[in-house]
Amino acid sequence: MSDRQRVRVTVNGATYEREVEPRLTLVDFLRHELQLVGTHVGCEHGICGACTVMIDGRSARACLTLAVQADGAEVTTVEGLRERDTGRLHPVQQAFVDEHGMQCGFCTPGMIMSSVELLAANPDPTEAEIKEALGGNLCRCTGYRSIIASVRLAAERMRAGG
Ligand code: FES
Ligand code: FES
Repeated sequence: MSDRQRVRVTVNGATYEREVEPRLTLVDFLRHELQLVGTHVGCEHGICGACTVMIDGRSARACLTLAVQADGAEVTTVEGLRERDTGRLHPVQQAFVDEHGMQCGFCTPGMIMSSVELLAANPDPTEAEIKEALGGNLCRCTGYRSIIASVRLAAERMRAGG
């Protein structure tokens, strides 16, 4: 007898229903069931932050969350940050492009999700606050200087309404 469970989850505004193994992680659900591969899988034990998504408006590790735990939730991934009508990048995404806040890009989706959460709560963060907010996201290549510059630029543009 299958122990698969039905989950119904809204991801980036679209609702999906699937039968899944209870042990399936949310990140594997997003990547393999929904083909949303923008959310990356790094350490798979909650350390690197590459798998960061928003669940009901709060950042969460998708590698430590089971798909069945997201039943009934609203999930936002890095793909869902673009403006739906125009396809325009979110100001945080655009700032990472403009300030070269990425190199290989592996950490970038998680960095962006954590930055979006920070700026929603604190539109004018200090450098220390940015470092604190991104403390759970690890980057192995770009270096944090350009990532912090990206967040500052995004904050500036968002305060100016851009
Ligand atoms: S893959 Fe989830 S924290 Fe590293
Ligand atoms: S840009 Fe490569 S890990 Fe951060």
